[in-house]
Amino acid sequence: MTDGDAGGEGSGGRGSGEPLWAGRFTAAPAPEAHALGTSVHHDVRLAPHDVEASIAHVHGLEDAGLLTSDDAAALREALAEVGRRIADGEFVFDPADEDVHSAIERAVTDRLGDVGARLHAGRSRNDLVVTDLRLWLLAAGRRIDGVTTMLVRTLVARAREHAESVMPGTTHARAAQTVTLGHHLLAHAWALLRDLERLDQWAIRTSVSPLGAGALATSTLGLDPAASAARLGFVRAFDNSIDAVSDRDFVQEFLADAAISATHLSRLAADLARWTDPALGWAELDEAYTTGSSIMPQKRNPDTAELARAKAPRVAAAFVALTSVLHGLSLGYHRDLQEDKEPAFDAADTLELVLPALVGAVETVRFDAGAMRAAASEEGLYATDLAEVLVRGGVPFREAHRRTGELLKQLAASSRSMRDLTHEEWSSFGVPDGAALLDPDASVRARGGGGGPSPSSVVDQADAIGAWLAAR
Ligand code: ARG
Repeated sequence: MTDGDAGGEGSGGRGSGEPLWAGRFTAAPAPEAHALGTSVHHDVRLAPHDVEASIAHVHGLEDAGLLTSDDAAALREALAEVGRRIADGEFVFDPADEDVHSAIERAVTDRLGDVGARLHAGRSRNDLVVTDLRLWLLAAGRRIDGVTTMLVRTLVARAREHAESVMPGTTHARAAQTVTLGHHLLAHAWALLRDLERLDQWAIRTSVSPLGAGALATSTLGLDPAASAARLGFVRAFDNSIDAVSDRDFVQEFLADAAISATHLSRLAADLARWTDPALGWAELDEAYTTGSSIMPQKRNPDTAELARAKAPRVAAAFVALTSVLHGLSLGYHRDLQEDKEPAFDAADTLELVLPALVGAVETVRFDAGAMRAAASEEGLYATDLAEVLVRGGVPFREAHRRTGELLKQLAASSRSMRDLTHEEWSSFGVPDGAALLDPDASVRARGGGGGPSPSSVVDQADAIGAWLAAR
């Protein structure tokens, strides 16, 4: 089976179905060796970038006087046509194709004969594959950036709605201190903002073109890597050809950033799952983001949140897989490096699945501010505020902590609560207005400093995040 539109004979003495490098060989690869080596089934995703990079290379060959303008135009046209056919699903891969780069070059050569055979001068699959992958990842990074930004905006919008909704803040998942729902939602937004910042910084390091590095040592052909870099929209060209073809730190860094991001998403998902647990009843996921049980008719399960939570480890695993491939690998291309793409694709795909689902879930989740406020009546939430009243009155904190703890112990022993304390009891304890202390709104307002949970701080944070996004 060859590309359906195969026109002329392959040139350079190459018969159909032979690998590009067959000249030095007498035997074809063993079928099981070929099965292990072929990567077309996944690296076909690089095809649009392979075409783009090949077209830039053709310009470079033309500029160097190695192609006539007619030949260059014919090559560019043939490359674009192959790209279109791959995109439309019309392209027929040859079972002998090792990878997408070989398939595209073969198809162009099948069509143009000798002119096609001029395409690969001064380049290697070693610089090509890594050029394609940088372009692919930069595009994926921009898409991920877009949906992450949507999620941040959604969190900010929901936080503004709930700037004044008090809720129990927890440590160890147990009542700790009062906060506002807006404050908690923005905690997730700030984490995602750092993910965006990481993506920005990663993109600067990734926007370096390897094209022209060749197999490892550039070429004698007078090509201009900077011009190719500019044509492909890279910020600049490589500084060292061995580094350009050997390192995959841009993939590793993408995977590290993606793993961090997936971790953040899993923690947002965990909060959604927890808050919407009917036993807690602080929120309800929209039906569209829940599923039923095949046996228990009453169930509405938070599968979206659960899967968003459970997808994080595979992204971290992708980082570990690539890091392990690179570990101890001497410089220069090794076929080991072919194992960079599947983890990269999988990590990007995973984020692109999880992020939109969380945007929808956060956008539509119905918070029960009343239930959260009711839960904020739990007295323990005010114990730290109480100790701090004593501190403001001059008591050393350790002493205030001890006195407050003892008060709670005595109340529990006599089955009373702080709400049962009389004005006199409060006063003798050193608190002028005990009732005000137990007011959830006053409690969050009292923590109104920068970065705190008070409603005004929530609005300030939301404004700051909005300004950060607007300035990008
Ligand atoms: N499919 C290969 C990869 O993904 C392309 C580079 C192959 N280079 C080579 N010298 N065999 O890494």
